[in-house]
Amino acid sequence: MQAAGAGPEPVYRVHVFCCTNRRPDSHWRGCCASKGSKALCDYMCRLGMVLGARRIRINHAGCLNVCEHGPTMVIYPDGVWYRYETEADVEEILRRHVIGGKRVERLLLDIDPGTLRG
Ligand code: FES
Repeated sequence: MQAAGAGPEPVYRVHVFCCTNRRPDSHWRGCCASKGSKALCDYMCRLGMVLGARRIRINHAGCLNVCEHGPTMVIYPDGVWYRYETEADVEEILRRHVIGGKRVERLLLDIDPGTLRG
């Protein structure tokens, strides 16, 4: 595969994808929405605006394929994955990683690509 190479400056400095996928309650993999991900993602968006975060985009996303660990998010361009449960978790990720550029070690989700389904 050919590398994308240098191009124009990215539109966003940081892009966050929060899984807000919902499945039926009986689904064996569960889902992030049933664990409150939509409200937490909305909270992160609002807080980002309040903090005046520039060139940062926080998006609701479909399934990120790590459902058993949810709620989950991935942050690019770093490719860092997190699991979060509370508004305090989301605020820490926003302030420390998204704005501050440092990882939140206690919330890191260590994904082994060999265990991914599909
Ligand atoms: S439902 Fe959230 S990662 Fe699959």
